[in-house]
Amino acid sequence: MDVTKAIIPAAGLGTRFLPYTKAIPKEMLPLLNKPAIQYIIEEGLSAEINNFLVITGKNKDAIANHFDAHPELETFLKERNKSELMASTEKILRSTYFTYIRQSEPLGLGHAIWLARHAIGKEYFSIFLPDDIIISKVPAITQLIKIARQEKGSVIAVQEVSPDSVSSYGIVGIKKQITPNLFQVSHLVEKPHPKDAPSNLAIIGRYVLSSKIFTSLQDISGYAMGELQLTDAISHMMKNNEKVFAFKVQGVRYDIGTPIGWMKAVIGMALQDPYYAPHIKKFIASIDTPESFLYNSSKNIEHQL
Ligand code: G1P
Repeated sequence: MDVTKAIIPAAGLGTRFLPYTKAIPKEMLPLLNKPAIQYIIEEGLSAEINNFLVITGKNKDAIANHFDAHPELETFLKERNKSELMASTEKILRSTYFTYIRQSEPLGLGHAIWLARHAIGKEYFSIFLPDDIIISKVPAITQLIKIARQEKGSVIAVQEVSPDSVSSYGIVGIKKQITPNLFQVSHLVEKPHPKDAPSNLAIIGRYVLSSKIFTSLQDISGYAMGELQLTDAISHMMKNNEKVFAFKVQGVRYDIGTPIGWMKAVIGMALQDPYYAPHIKKFIASIDTPESFLYNSSKNIEHQL
């Protein structure tokens, strides 16, 4: 099973981050010195995914500009022997294909995925939700692809969440536990009330799916009320004999869709970075209430926010 394509739904208005997101896409929020979406592309590239279908909307041009060539800047840096400042985006430019597809109406995640159907053949493909940044030794998508090959089915990344958070996520119903971290899924419930949640395993933004998902999205679109949910289509796909698995990915996940989540990501990532860490540690030690900062190296454990 080769997985070479990724759909990145990036059309959201970023209302949880207003007013920052009025003119700037939330996918362009900086994490250290790179925009968040660059981490997503680099995660894909490290798993040999080089075909990215980005679902965009109004005010999202900065994403395409970021991954395009910039001849004047390149010449300027070359003349000053500073080309390495653009090395990471140069690498992406040389090794990837981008397609941008507009989602003109906010009809939900399922609809965003459906818009890319013409670019996917009869193959397994990946989805990256750019609000979810996962820092791990083995890239999260590589972990999922390995399971998809082993089990010959679709795989969703999950993590355990507390009962009061289940209503913020798609929650997985378990058919069978295969290993401590791997489950066969029976069904999915999008943002359930805590008393209706089938487990505490929440979907986080990485998926490897069969192209059968497009038939399911089409089939459920007739009776979807308002937004077309990807979780409903995945549940439907299981009725069409596609096996779906949930895998607790190894890594630290940040939800950068809110200012607090983004701040945690910036601080957490800086403290793991050899260049930034000494500066930030010194800064934290110098402020009056260092205990108010949540950093604690023992917290950086597997399967944890
Ligand atoms: C989406 C999905 C949800 C998933 C979540 C992960 O929801 O619909 O199933 O758990 O992403 O971040 P959103 O956060 O876009 O409302």
